[in-house]
Amino acid sequence: MSLILGIESSCDETACAIVKDGFEVLSSAVASQIAIHAKLGGVVPELAAREHLKALDPVVSQALDQAGVSASDIDCVAVTQGPGLIPALLVGLSYAKGLASNLNVPLVGVNHFMAHIYGAFLDGTAEELTDPAGYPLLALVVSGGHTSLVLVSEDGTARQLGCTIDDAAGEALDKGSKLLDLGYPGGPIISKVAENGDPEAYNFPRPLTGGAGKPLAPEHRYNFSFSGIKTALLYHTQRLGGVKNIKDSLLYDTVASYQMAVVDTLTRKTMLAAKDFNVKQIVLAGGVACNKLLRQLITEKAPKGVKVRIAPPKYCTDNAAMVAGIGFHSFIRNEFISHDADSFARLPGIVKVPFLG
Ligand code: KG4
Ligand code: ZN
Repeated sequence: MSLILGIESSCDETACAIVKDGFEVLSSAVASQIAIHAKLGGVVPELAAREHLKALDPVVSQALDQAGVSASDIDCVAVTQGPGLIPALLVGLSYAKGLASNLNVPLVGVNHFMAHIYGAFLDGTAEELTDPAGYPLLALVVSGGHTSLVLVSEDGTARQLGCTIDDAAGEALDKGSKLLDLGYPGGPIISKVAENGDPEAYNFPRPLTGGAGKPLAPEHRYNFSFSGIKTALLYHTQRLGGVKNIKDSLLYDTVASYQMAVVDTLTRKTMLAAKDFNVKQIVLAGGVACNKLLRQLITEKAPKGVKVRIAPPKYCTDNAAMVAGIGFHSFIRNEFISHDADSFARLPGIVKVPFLG
């Protein structure tokens, strides 16, 4: 039996979790900085780093307490190395180095994207994770900072097929909400408000889908672009007399249509890649995977015979259970990192997942 302690600090959540043998989550503590960044309308990296520093000791104690284990029971520390905000990542990585050396256990570095994908397999079994019938696997990793389509092959190589060329989908929801004076973070607010509106009321653009009479450029086949949707929303609100003057019913329709444009674009691109690469499984991951409409459309539109896996919301937003979970596989393969390992901001071209091949 192996107990892995995971640490996550890539963005604005400080998290620690204890996971047994890669799948059984004994505890998952998350300290969110949302309230702090909300006042500023977005995440400020240096501020996030300082908050991580304050929150790490308490979340680690909380995770150990909730799991009912003591630090000396831990077999390995797993930490998010990247991609993410460098100042934020560095705090978690340095802390994890110190903790691993204090406990005299090895340290493994975790790729945040692969951890998000792994989140969909937590509380499951090794058979489900490694079943060859589930590969190639296509993951839509969609959060406040990222929007990527990642293809994981049976040999364990993962490569990014495409990503956003400007804003992330979560950012489009967050900024859309800000523009409409609805608050931060926009994702959950938009999905709540949208429930009262008609998603077909207004036709916001579906960028890079080959709509609007513009053929889809081959280099953007799997890429996304969400900054135009935001601008369309701005002009739309101006046409309706400005944010302060929109009638409630029109506001609800606006939000529902805006959400639909983002979600429909994500779904169309995912299905395009799923068919092109003849994938056997689609995983929806990252904070925006909490979105009900997205969960519904990805499930409905998946090609026949393709499995869809979506993590419960607590493993979609940033958490450390996914870090400790995937970290277990690096641990049993003796894939450790040294104490001079660095954080990284972007997803490397090709990544090897530690649970296949
Ligand atoms: O993965 P995550 O916790 O952090 C990043 O790495 O960014 O994702 C946060 C993002 C935010 O943009 C937030 O608005 C979005 O996930 N989000 C949602 C929902 N809950 C969180 N987006 C849409 N619908 C939701 N229910
Ligand atoms: Zn994330």
